[in-house]
Amino acid sequence: MNPEVLVSVRDLHVSFGAVEAVRGLSFDVRKGEVLAVVGESGAGKSLTARALLGMPPRQASVTGSIQMGPYELVGAPRSVRAALWGRQLALVPQDALSALSPVHRVADQLATAVRSVDGVSRKEARARAVAALEEVGIPADRTRAYPHEFSGGMRQRAVIAMALLHSPALVIADEPTTAQDQETQRRLLDLLTHRTEATGTTLVLITHDLPMVRDHADRVLVMYAGRLAEEGPVEEVFTRPRAPYTAGLLASAPLQGRGELRNQPRRTHGIRLPLIPGTPPNPTNLPPGCAFAPRCPLADATRCATAHPEPETRNNRTVACHHWRKLPSNSAELFLESA
Ligand SMILES: Nc1ncnc2c1ncn2[C@@H]1O[C@H](COP(=O)(O)OP(=O)(O)OP(=O)(O)O)[C@@H](O)[C@H]1O
Ligand SMILES: [Mg+2]
Repeated sequence: MNPEVLVSVRDLHVSFGAVEAVRGLSFDVRKGEVLAVVGESGAGKSLTARALLGMPPRQASVTGSIQMGPYELVGAPRSVRAALWGRQLALVPQDALSALSPVHRVADQLATAVRSVDGVSRKEARARAVAALEEVGIPADRTRAYPHEFSGGMRQRAVIAMALLHSPALVIADEPTTAQDQETQRRLLDLLTHRTEATGTTLVLITHDLPMVRDHADRVLVMYAGRLAEEGPVEEVFTRPRAPYTAGLLASAPLQGRGELRNQPRRTHGIRLPLIPGTPPNPTNLPPGCAFAPRCPLADATRCATAHPEPETRNNRTVACHHWRKLPSNSAELFLESA
């Protein structure tokens, strides 16, 4: 494996009986990066995250390969997953309240987590817990509180501290801030990316918030209907998307302001907000060719309607589209017209 690669995912499938929700996904997570995973609801982002964490839903069947250093995570026995958990892999969940026990003090919960991995004394564990909480901005005199005595933002800080306790190699954050107001979201994301950078931790960030991706991620993986639509450095993908799906997603996102992007449609004549027409397909009833074809302004009735486009990689960019060369540089306008 390339030494810059932390996790290598190849031909990942996650299915529930005959229904395939993730359908042959391949990508790498590189050491030290922030990799954003985006795509409309139902694209398979959370299932991919859970496969990476070695904790897919009980009813799911997972095939393919997820290689992390010497470990193969697909089908790994519980002992391997337990050895990796906390030290190598950790999750920042969406819902901090349900991730914390309501009946134990916050610092005690972190201290227990410290002792579950490192067999240190109670006193030492407690000191480490308090220090970890201080690092995310929770003052020592508040660490004896119970979770319900914290604000939502503070609870989310506490679960970030918990995830980073053992400086894991990889942290996966699945919509970690969506329960908070905009300003709190932004501060939590700043905190999460600063802390992971400080600890040399790689971050996979799943989010619907494209401005956050622009401001915080190094690379972005765009998923559609369980497959890769496009992948590459954020700056390149956001300024010049290659997959029509990415172009539509970007065109519909509020990306004005900080570091405005060329690809945004002109809003001078105002009220026509571009949107991708239609909705993502139901995984029980997928179109036969490219899953995006029914919504795509470039789709034709021959190739796109019949054959799924295989991902092609060149110069750091991967795209799965029969017609990516035809996508104009002002691609957002395509969706303005069709909206
Ligand atoms: N336990 C399950 N049993 C059956 N189907 C499931 C299960 N979990 C997820 N799915 C289906 O798999 C598909 C992908 O789900 P997933 O949760 O990964 O989407 P997502 O991209 O995370 O969406 P969102 O942005 O809404 O969180 C969806 O169609 C979903 O209904
Ligand atoms: Mg999800």
